Amino acid sequence: MFIVSIIVAEKLQKSFGKLIAVDGVSFTVEEGEVFGFLGPNGAGKTTAMKMIQCVSPKNAGRLLVFDMEVDTHPREIKKLLGVVPQENNLDPDFTVYENLLAYSRYFDMSRQDAERIIDELLEFVQLEEKKEKMTESLSGGMKRRLVLARALINRPQLLILDEPTVGLDPQARHLMWDKLKSLKLQGVTIVLTTHYLEEAAYLCDRLVVMDHGRILVEGKPDELIRKYIGTDIVEAENEPIVIACLEKNNAMYEVIGDMIQIYTSDPQKTTDYLLKECTLRKITARSATLEDVFLKLTGRKLRE
Ligand SMILES: Nc1ncnc2c1ncn2[C@@H]1O[C@H](COP(=O)(O)OP(=O)(O)OP(=O)(O)O)[C@@H](O)[C@H]1O
Ligand SMILES: [Mg+2]
Repeated sequence: MFIVSIIVAEKLQKSFGKLIAVDGVSFTVEEGEVFGFLGPNGAGKTTAMKMIQCVSPKNAGRLLVFDMEVDTHPREIKKLLGVVPQENNLDPDFTVYENLLAYSRYFDMSRQDAERIIDELLEFVQLEEKKEKMTESLSGGMKRRLVLARALINRPQLLILDEPTVGLDPQARHLMWDKLKSLKLQGVTIVLTTHYLEEAAYLCDRLVVMDHGRILVEGKPDELIRKYIGTDIVEAENEPIVIACLEKNNAMYEVIGDMIQIYTSDPQKTTDYLLKECTLRKITARSATLEDVFLKLTGRKLRE
């Protein structure tokens, strides 16, 4: 299959004064895939998104979007993009409909086309009934869906979503996931950031985990889980007697607060063994997740 790279970044860098927010990252996003940027607060995700959107100039490195340099072709690139920014930036003085109509004026489209697309998009994000409402009267989840509709006005080939589901209830989040899956099926390439690792595992074909402006790892969610954790985790209570037993048996484990996590690819065997050899009051086995990978790679300390 012929692979087309929609985004190519090579040693991309961005500083704010002395702070290096994006520190020489290289990645490619291929046509039709959902590509995720994960990382703790301040990792540099939004800064990277903004360079791709051509709204924040890079300081060094190379960045091609649709084979065009962001520095020299921002207008051409922006025409092909849709963006859901981290903060909702809707106009509070406008209705839902007026917000979309005002946005459509940035693109080459007739009033008639704009009206037709807006009606379609309001249906797509299930906001038809809110058409004449002021945006301020919308709930957080409705605002997020409206921002998605706005991002789709120019029928973008590349959609950039910075925490699209933040603050959404489970229903609204699942609706957003359905919409993103259907856009992917239509061939739209999607780049997204999220702190919901279950969401990243569900939506992303490939992802990177960033920290302190650098990419720590890149891969498919399942591959990363297998590579960094194994298939399963057995959890037991953090008791000296259990630790001593694990030490005696050279088990691979990590102490997390009042819990011990044992990484394993054979949870049955590990559980049987621990129950037989160590005096355990409680033990659980579960599948390893992307969250386990994230915490292992980026640690458990809060970012300042
Ligand atoms: N306009 C700016 N001026 C100065 N510093 C900035 C600016 N924008 C971002 N930064 C800094 O750059 C670093 C990366 O910020 P960025 O917003 O890219 O992080 P993020 O990964 O998106 O985090 P979050 O998950 O909290 O959204 C942070 O230390 C932030 O304080
Ligand atoms: Mg951000």
